[in-house]
Amino acid sequence: MARILVTGGTGYIGSHTVVCLMQQGYDVVIVDNLSNSNIEVLDGIEKIVGRRPDFENVNCNDYVNMERVFTQYPDIQAVIHFAASKAVGESVEQPLMYYRNNLGSLVTILELMLVHNVPHIVFSSSCTVYGQPDKAHLPVDETAPIQKALSPYGNTKQINEEIICDTCHANANLHAIILRYFNPIGAHPSALIGELPNGVPNNLLPFVTQTAAGLRDKLRVFGNDYNTPDGSCIRDYIYVVDLAKAHVKAVERMLAGLPTDQVEVFNLGTGRGLSVLEILRTFIKVSGIHIKYEIVGRREGDIEQVWANPKKANEVLGWKADTPIEDVLRSAWNWEKKLRGIE
Ligand code: UFG
Repeated sequence: MARILVTGGTGYIGSHTVVCLMQQGYDVVIVDNLSNSNIEVLDGIEKIVGRRPDFENVNCNDYVNMERVFTQYPDIQAVIHFAASKAVGESVEQPLMYYRNNLGSLVTILELMLVHNVPHIVFSSSCTVYGQPDKAHLPVDETAPIQKALSPYGNTKQINEEIICDTCHANANLHAIILRYFNPIGAHPSALIGELPNGVPNNLLPFVTQTAAGLRDKLRVFGNDYNTPDGSCIRDYIYVVDLAKAHVKAVERMLAGLPTDQVEVFNLGTGRGLSVLEILRTFIKVSGIHIKYEIVGRREGDIEQVWANPKKANEVLGWKADTPIEDVLRSAWNWEKKLRGIE
């Protein structure tokens, strides 16, 4: 079976993807510098799969050590590139750190893929590239216009997509699948791996589960005066395990030589938009825990509403995100309980 190099493989989406790949029989080597993840994730992966992935503690920006990885594992047939800094607010404060990390790592990987004749890359992009689509483009498909990024983080995703397109254009053997994620949430059903936010979570779900666990006093709902049915923002929340499976489909498609374009782009979402208040209500229902919340002002830079048209991924990748939201929220709560030792 082929070996896949997974950068950022101890991170949130990366670790779930490593599990899916290994369960399909792939060999995996993870490259991660543990800047925003934990070495114990490898134990969780091993418990779930029954095998431990190879692991190299290397910064993807470090050409010399990345070269060593490519040399040490000559059977790498494809790369899934997750490794990136991803906090929107931090990127506004430290843009150069974001440009160096997120652009430099992709450039390094592409250079080494060309040197070592590794022809396939799957890249983690984001629906952030669409900004706030106009009504005519909701739900968003892959043809919706790219809009100017609202943060350096978002800009690195856009520039990285361009770097991939330009590099493929110049190298006929190189193929890429760009996956634009909507809002990944939830944890593996085993509760052995999940999201591990640093400090106070920015994202909705970890904040909700930490509030339910008593770590936070109350959830602040950022705005109820949006032009949506209940006034709160709408997103397409996608189960992280469903998302992970899409990566396996993308790798399979490339290894089978099926792509019709050198660069293919897929939106990964459920096709259903849920509001912040709907998520909150459903979480309270499945967990049985009452969560204190307060409506506060809008958060700067928030998009009002965005959800995916996943038709292309459904039809071309043969993939669908179909885990019910109740099960997804339950998995997030089970993971939080496990982390905090709550029965
Ligand atoms: N929200 C709250 N309270 C909170 C946290 C979030 O009300 O404490 C709301 C937000 O205002 C938003 C929704 O919950 O309406 C979802 O917010 P998240 O921060 O979880 O997700 P975003 O859609 O804002 O951000 C995600 C990714 C980013 C990416 C961005 C744009 O986390 O990496 O989408 O695509 F940049």
